[in-house]
Amino acid sequence: MVQIVVNGRRIEAEDGSSVLEVLRHQKIKVPTLCYHPALKPSGSCKLCSVEVVGKSGRPTAMLSCILKVRDGLEVQTESEVVAAARTRAFRNLLRMAPQSRHLLDLAAQFGIDTGPPPDGCVRCRLCIRVCKEIIGAAALRMETRDGRPFVAAVEGHCIGCGTCANICPTRVIQVSDRDGIRTISIRDETIGIHALERCDACGTLFATRKFLQHALEHSRPHPEFKEHHRHCPTCAKLMAHRVQQGLSQKQH
Ligand code: SF4
Ligand code: FES
Repeated sequence: MVQIVVNGRRIEAEDGSSVLEVLRHQKIKVPTLCYHPALKPSGSCKLCSVEVVGKSGRPTAMLSCILKVRDGLEVQTESEVVAAARTRAFRNLLRMAPQSRHLLDLAAQFGIDTGPPPDGCVRCRLCIRVCKEIIGAAALRMETRDGRPFVAAVEGHCIGCGTCANICPTRVIQVSDRDGIRTISIRDETIGIHALERCDACGTLFATRKFLQHALEHSRPHPEFKEHHRHCPTCAKLMAHRVQQGLSQKQH
């Protein structure tokens, strides 16, 4: 038998056993994934880290499933070193198995912040900011689900302009125009569904009714507000060009 110290408590341990086996025997909880009592330990998941004083004399994280007990070994199962090692290990595993409910539950059980899920969004918040600061619709917000942040729709606020999709650097926000209907979505969630209106000049379906209404309301107070037309960007450019040409002919 050897004597080890776990979380400041002196414990007798069987020579040759692993630290994890002793911890389990003592009912001290440490997360594990790749450990199985019938198999040799492999040290694959890296979840079972504990803090011990290394050869350098500094506290260091070691895998308790592999580490063998020795006389005088001091072990901490809850410390900053352990939390950092566990967080790294959980995040690494979640990169490979992001949808694993078991992993997420295990991380939550040990109070580990697993960070944002790999859903294609880098949480730059450009979509949220442009929708609020420039468009003025505030149709998107950050929402916490299971302790993790997600871009989510604010119900009924989307006007279907698509600016969020245009500005998104990872293109995770999608705009689909099909059969006269515009659908804006992120992941498999809908941000807004809108009927498209036709251009007064060429008849092309080009913008949503809510967006045109919004543009009208926001441009009306402007000192240079002109009569409002529903023209698609191409026709609007052509009209502006014609007006410009007419003006310069008058001047000559
Ligand atoms: S959805 Fe796109 S724009 Fe919005 S936070 Fe994520 S990456 Fe950034
Ligand atoms: S239990 Fe997986 S590395 Fe120790």
